[in-house]
Order: sequence, then C-alpha cells, then structure tokens
Amino acid sequence: MIFKLDMENYIMGRVITGIKGFDKLVDGGFPLGSIVLLSGQPGTGKTIFGLNYLFNGAKKFNERGVFITLEEDRNSLLEQAKQFGWDLAKLERDGLLQLITIRTFELKKGYMEQLFSKVEKFGAKRLVIDSLSSLSIKIPTAYMKLNEVNDFAIRRFIYEFTDKLKDINGITTLLTQQSSENLVDKSDLAEFMCDGVIKISFEPMGGKYSRSLIVKKMRRTRNEEDIHPLEISKDGIVIHDIK
Ligand SMILES: Nc1ncnc2c1ncn2[C@@H]1O[C@H](COP(=O)(O)OP(=O)(O)OP(=O)(O)O)[C@@H](O)[C@H]1O
Ligand SMILES: [Mg+2]
Repeated sequence: MIFKLDMENYIMGRVITGIKGFDKLVDGGFPLGSIVLLSGQPGTGKTIFGLNYLFNGAKKFNERGVFITLEEDRNSLLEQAKQFGWDLAKLERDGLLQLITIRTFELKKGYMEQLFSKVEKFGAKRLVIDSLSSLSIKIPTAYMKLNEVNDFAIRRFIYEFTDKLKDINGITTLLTQQSSENLVDKSDLAEFMCDGVIKISFEPMGGKYSRSLIVKKMRRTRNEEDIHPLEISKDGIVIHDIK
C-alpha cells in the first residue's frame, strides 16, 4: 500500500528509501536519478543500508533493483538479509531484484559498459554498488591507459564511472565507500562527483560504541544537518531523532 504522502513524494521526483526515520532528513527521499555516496568505516552498516533500500523498493513500491557486489558472495548477502526477514531469493524469482557478484578476473575492458546496459534492460529503478572502494582498487588495471600513473588512473576511472552512471535513465544509485581508505578512494573526488553524500560513524559514546548518520550533502534538497543515532534493529536500519 502506497500512502498519500509517498505518492506526493513520487510526484515531486523523490525516491523513497523507506528506511525508518531517514527520508524526512532528505526532503522525502533521494532525488530521482541521483547518485548518492554512502561512506563509513567497516561494520558501520553500509551493506545492510543498501539491501534495505532495494528490499523496500521492491516490496513497497514494486520497483526493480540491482545489487552489485565486489565484496561478498551471494550466500553471505542472502543470509545477512534473512536476519531481517528479507527474502531476496524470492524477490529475484519474482523478477524484482538481481544480485550480481563481480569477480576481479571479469573486469576486462568493456565489462562495466555491458553491466550498465544489463541494469538498464532489466528496468531497474534502484541500483546499489558495494563498493566504489573495491571497484577502484580492482578496476583501473583493466581500464588503465599505457604509461598512466596509478593514482591518476583511479581518479579518471571514478570520474568516468560516475559520469556513465548518470546516463542510465531513471535510475537512483547508492554507492558505498570505505571511509578509512581515503587514499585509495580519492574520496574528495567521489564526494564531488556524487549528488549526495551520507556518512555513517561507529564511535565510542558513553562507554560503548554507537552508530550515527549525517547527511553531508544532497543536491536539490533541503537536507538536515544534525547527527542522528543509527540502529541496526531486527527489521533493518532505523534512524532515530536526536534526543
Ligand atoms: N541481525 C543483526 N542485528 C543487528 N546488527 C547486525 C545484524 N547483522 C549484522 N549486524 C551488524 O552489522 C554489521 C555489519 O554491517 P554491514 O555488513 O552492513 O557493514 P559494512 O559497513 O558494509 O561493513 P564493511 O565495510 O566491512 O563491508 C556487523 O558488524 C554487525 O555489527
Ligand atoms: Mg559491506
């Protein structure tokens, strides 16, 4: 059932993530067709956030989604999702989801272009790439030009990659990124190229580690600037109001 408010958001060109407590931080959802970078250290909940975004899209809005992973195998993702009651294998059978695992040896020249055309043909409205960090570590050798310095190749790759993503019609993308490896990620460039930047932290607070989320940037949006507690609950990600 799509609520009236949700319909209004669609009309306004918003893609509702459906992640509890999140959409109101970004004026109703991700701007339609945008690329959003989700950055955080290991174990902060980036992969779960991405799965949650696609599961909600399929389940609540009947929208197709593609999850591209360079980090985990299929079973590990299916098992992780199951813990929150998300049956991804069923969504795949129903034609609402595709899980794609990329192996390093597949990253030959032209592979990304083929992948994007596959995503487009599937009619995906939501795309998650987990992660840009792994992609930029693994891909440049295949895409590198003769005599190009590695550092420059990664920058050029991120630039061309995000640019090509913008050409896929009507798709709203979440790109995850390891924030602890800024040197490899060229995170300043990625943050500049993406329409939105969300950061998740996992830091000591009052004697224990707590997760929190901030929306650092969201083009075309009046975004909130507060730091919000993030919980990984039994139903998935929950963003809490500040007390
Ligand atoms: N069922 C669950 N309930 C509560 N917390 C969970 C559950 N399953 C996993 N977690 C927490 O989520 C973390 C993993 O989340 P996730 O895989 O999304 O992190 P990540 O940011 O993608 O990490 P990485 O950068 O290593 O890929 C675990 O370390 C654990 O703390
Ligand atoms: Mg992950």
